[in-house]
Amino acid sequence: MNAVRGATTVREDAPDEIREAVAELLGEMVKRNRLANSDIICITFSSTQDIRSFYPAKAAREAGFGGCPLFSALEPPIDGALPLCIRVLMLTKAEGVPVPVYLRDAANLRRDITQKLVIALDGPAGSGKSTAAKNLAKDLNILYLDTGAMYRACALECLNRGTDISDESAVRAVMEDIDLRIEYSGGRQVTMLNGRDVSEDIRRPEISGMASKVSAFGCVRRKMVEMQRRIAATMSCVMDGRDIGTNVLPNTEHKFYVTASVEVRAKRRYEEDRAKGYDVSYENIVKEIRERDKRDSEREIAPLRCAEDAVVVDTSDMTPEEAVAFIKNKIQEKV
Ligand code: DC
Repeated sequence: MNAVRGATTVREDAPDEIREAVAELLGEMVKRNRLANSDIICITFSSTQDIRSFYPAKAAREAGFGGCPLFSALEPPIDGALPLCIRVLMLTKAEGVPVPVYLRDAANLRRDITQKLVIALDGPAGSGKSTAAKNLAKDLNILYLDTGAMYRACALECLNRGTDISDESAVRAVMEDIDLRIEYSGGRQVTMLNGRDVSEDIRRPEISGMASKVSAFGCVRRKMVEMQRRIAATMSCVMDGRDIGTNVLPNTEHKFYVTASVEVRAKRRYEEDRAKGYDVSYENIVKEIRERDKRDSEREIAPLRCAEDAVVVDTSDMTPEEAVAFIKNKIQEKV
């Protein structure tokens, strides 16, 4: 189940205006959330006190949404509130991230969501960028795309096929018919390889180094970057990786370079891997992180580097919550 928010305004308090605005708002909510009317559990409206001529719930029934319980209420008078405004909360049986819809003058209420937001977070392994990206996407109610997972899936496919990953032409052959898809379920990114959920498998420690190696090849990067740009073109998202601000989405306004000292990053990775039951040593992780940083930042194509216009976030002495709050503040300064 999920809850979809929406709001709109009318030009004047007149039944036909209310009918039209409500039909438009509900129609957009259904369309943008890919809902069937039978997915809707109930719809609740609230409206400002200057709307008195017609119930929004009645307008919804007339617009064909009478198959579920409908309810309208008046909001308390709030100083400075947007006038002639109708707000809605729609409960649905759908899974996944709900898409809120704010139309007409109500679009100004939530510029953070009515304006397409594309946020790039780059940084080395263990910098805290994925945790920050995940939490940020959840807070802003937009999609999170972990691009590292895509390179990891390419590495896993090579491993499964017994491909020699030092041989670019062998890797190119894999890329020609790789069946990789990114799906979303319950707000979580699911990495599908050959129709199977490999979201856990790709986290295996041996995949990290392999992903870093295959990601240096142009044939791999071209395919992944195309998929990433396609996703960012259609919806608001937080994308994390190594080359998002410099190469994948160079024109986005919101770029961050998330980093931390090697020791802090290694300690985080060590604790994460141990918690997952992997038998790893701290010294090996430090070594592996140094090698990976070097490979990722010295490769020829789209190396890891801080974009000139990115804000640097050093998370060495920050809690995950502090990192997200810092990034969110920077975004809000611009929207
Ligand atoms: O973020 P991660 O550890 O899951 O990424 C695995 C590897 O994938 C990383 O070492 C380099 C590569 N990568 C990349 O080259 N470009 C990206 N945008 C994301 C990851």
